[in-house]
Amino acid sequence: MLGVAAGIAAYKACELLRLLTEAGHQVRVVPTADALRFVGEATWAALSGQPVTSSAWAEVHEVPHVKLGKQADLVIVAPATADLLARAAAGRADDLLTAVLLTARCPVLFAPAMHTEMWEHPATQANVGTLRERGCLVVQPAAGRLTGADTGPGRLPEPAELFAIAGRVLARGARGLAPDLTGRRVVVSAGGTREELDPVRFIGNWSSGRQGYALAGTAASRGAEVTLVAANTQLPDPAGAQVVRVRSAEQLRTAVLQAAEAADAVVMAAAVADYRPASRSASKIKKTGAAPEPIALTENRDIIRDLVAARTGGRPLVVGFAAETDDVLANGRAKLARKGCDLLVVNQVGDGLAFGTADNEAVVLGADGTEVKVPLGPKEELADVIWDQVAERLAVLDLAGDAAKGRAAAPVSRDDRSDPMAQP
Ligand code: CTP
Repeated sequence: MLGVAAGIAAYKACELLRLLTEAGHQVRVVPTADALRFVGEATWAALSGQPVTSSAWAEVHEVPHVKLGKQADLVIVAPATADLLARAAAGRADDLLTAVLLTARCPVLFAPAMHTEMWEHPATQANVGTLRERGCLVVQPAAGRLTGADTGPGRLPEPAELFAIAGRVLARGARGLAPDLTGRRVVVSAGGTREELDPVRFIGNWSSGRQGYALAGTAASRGAEVTLVAANTQLPDPAGAQVVRVRSAEQLRTAVLQAAEAADAVVMAAAVADYRPASRSASKIKKTGAAPEPIALTENRDIIRDLVAARTGGRPLVVGFAAETDDVLANGRAKLARKGCDLLVVNQVGDGLAFGTADNEAVVLGADGTEVKVPLGPKEELADVIWDQVAERLAVLDLAGDAAKGRAAAPVSRDDRSDPMAQP
């Protein structure tokens, strides 16, 4: 079911509807009465091939609000206005859409769109918090040009992005995409670094940044506060992530280490140059006619090792990537041990594999010996598996932290002190 609230972004929901129906889904559209001021009933009916109604008073003999809510495998509200979020959070049922939200037992996905001030208002944020606590998925709005001359967070994410999220929620069945990363701060690095030789040339690599962007987007849609450190990427900002742009490995290192200080997890999806030219020429290097000078290189510091060395109490969790061409798993295990990270995502590269493609296939290795194979599929699916692994490990760290606090608070009895086994 596609609910449409009264925002100008309703026109983008037409494209989302088209993507859903073209993928073979049966979609019932339930606009609010005011949403029909932006896009009329005829458009929704023609695009969905289904009747459209805003009122609980139509077809009363069928009790539409109960029927629609019970039948749906997924409810998407796009755009979700400040008013719609408020009514949903309060449990109102004053039109068909809000009534359906109360009868639906399937995953519910809200895609907010409104002016920045309305989005950032404590009332709206409290409503979003309430809906997330109840298990709804509220995606972060994208930042950019709004209806007027203003810009900022509040744009409806692109229909293709919402369609991809909807597909992942449906693929995960009843589990949906729980906002299980709410309250977590995560850092993702993406793209490929460039090491400059002179003002016009650099040593670089083929990384497009798509896997890192998929990680940032999925983490944001699962409720995390996301910092994306992006090196030389051409992709649109993922909705809800704070993007820091860098070029070289050294800039990426500085940005990642700074963001990592307050983070629960860092995922290093960026392809970081291992070496940089020992010196950068301030002016363009010219042909001299003589044999070219070899390029002297200096090693870049390993960011993962620095992250691992700097952490306390196991935080932030550190996830590395290993792009390998040969002996993929054996090289991956060795790299995991060498770098000391918690998880290492190993994938095969070369000959059109992984770089710049929408799909990826990988094995997620855990320092605890786990090995999760992820078959070829969208990079968002691999991203979700990585976040599942991260979420599980963060929950264990939370428990360990709580236990340590409990131990610190509990008075130590005489008996406990005399028994060496009493203190684990
Ligand atoms: N990485 C890093 N700092 C670097 C280089 C790489 O943190 N200076 C991170 C990458 O972001 C990636 C992981 O390390 O998550 C694997 O990088 P890779 O270059 O494959 O590993 P190396 O240890 O350099 O091994 P090799 O080049 O021999 O394959």
